Amino acid sequence: MGQSILRQDGGLAIGQAGRVAELLRDGGLVRNGPSLLMGGARLTDIAESIGTPAYVYNLDAVRGRYRALDAAMGPVPHRICFAVKANSSLAVLHALSELGAGADIVSGGELSRVLAAGFPAERVVFSGVGKSEAELCEAVRVGVGRINVESAAELQRVAAVAKAQDRRVAVGIRVNPDVTAETHPYIATGARGIKFGIPADEVVAAAHVALGQPQLELGAIAMHLGSQILDLRPYSEGLDRLLALVAELRAIGVPLTTLGLGGGLGIRYDDQEPIAPASFAAALLPRLEAAGLSVELEPGRYLVGSAGVLLAEVLYRKHSGGKEFVILDAGMNDLLRPSIYQAYHEIVELEARGRPPELVDVVGPVCETGDFLALDRPLPGLRPGEFVAVLCAGAYGFVMASNYNSRPRPPEVIVDGGRTWVARPRESAEDLLRNERMEAP
Ligand code: LLP
Repeated sequence: MGQSILRQDGGLAIGQAGRVAELLRDGGLVRNGPSLLMGGARLTDIAESIGTPAYVYNLDAVRGRYRALDAAMGPVPHRICFAVKANSSLAVLHALSELGAGADIVSGGELSRVLAAGFPAERVVFSGVGKSEAELCEAVRVGVGRINVESAAELQRVAAVAKAQDRRVAVGIRVNPDVTAETHPYIATGARGIKFGIPADEVVAAAHVALGQPQLELGAIAMHLGSQILDLRPYSEGLDRLLALVAELRAIGVPLTTLGLGGGLGIRYDDQEPIAPASFAAALLPRLEAAGLSVELEPGRYLVGSAGVLLAEVLYRKHSGGKEFVILDAGMNDLLRPSIYQAYHEIVELEARGRPPELVDVVGPVCETGDFLALDRPLPGLRPGEFVAVLCAGAYGFVMASNYNSRPRPPEVIVDGGRTWVARPRESAEDLLRNERMEAP
């Protein structure tokens, strides 16, 4: 962490301020005087009227990211299927579906959500390593665009489900290309020996299984290398492995039309330099064009990560054991990423007050020592009653929130073209007790 120098307007000077400015720009956030605005809305007004903790998403920022990626992929036939696991708010899903996006889902619950949000079933790709029979039945019944399978046994199960419903089903094979991506080990998914995909050397055998099932139309192979990838190398290596398989599969008569490159495009959380859509396209599209394949992407974080913040209020300050603590009303049950991946999320004041930075631990109210949002972080002397925004919380934020400590999950608020509205209200005490029984009926 570089030396931070305080500027007169209360922000922190370059590199700290330059770095934070880039993070704010990525999310469509600006300072107007001391106040932080998202898409024109003053976040302090939202915190005061809706309460904290609260997630706030900027739909225009999401649309901008989609359009940038879509334009970069323009030279080849392509579909961008939003990885719903990153943010499954119906409002966010609906905005993406209106832009023509597809959806990448991994459960029956996500299937219900994308259909409710207006995605036509044919734009839905069903991925995931453990799809249940009930989930497959429903996916086949509604007619999802494709089911990406992850084992020969799953191919047999999809075939049986399709037969029972007298349907033909488009399937793809998710390949484990044995490519390592430099990211947190919990979110690296393309290396040998992890649970995802069919190993590259077993794909031809799996394709034979598919070819032997008249209900299955095998038209795609796909990979997903991991998440928060900042380097083109793994994509390029993975693409080469997949293209080698395309040739082998075409040689045995598999009519492949589509190649899936997965998701994984990283975003800036701190001072990272993410892959620009134009570099991604320039590095990969020529090979895909030459192979006559259409491309499918499954970005989650890239589309929504920077476009969301978690608002919180400072409840207390505490000095203990030589450390300074800022205790927020948001904790690991609201945003789990710092606790489980040691993820860095920038924290900024909603109203800049021009105070010098001090080193603090920013912690939540949950009864776990691992309940923190930032450790040893230089932040301007925050006082109780003040609000902060935890940046880059639009992906894997609310979706990973829980009711741990019987805490209600926060609301999801949308800022869109000058309007601010609650897309999902804060859970209530009744919500937490609903559906429970104390005694045998
Ligand atoms: N496609 C598949 C098959 C996936 O498994 C994933 C993410 C994606 C696409 C989207 O990846 P993205 O573009 O968002 O990187 N909870 C973790 C991230 C888990 C990602 C799991 N799979 C986190 O908070 O960093």
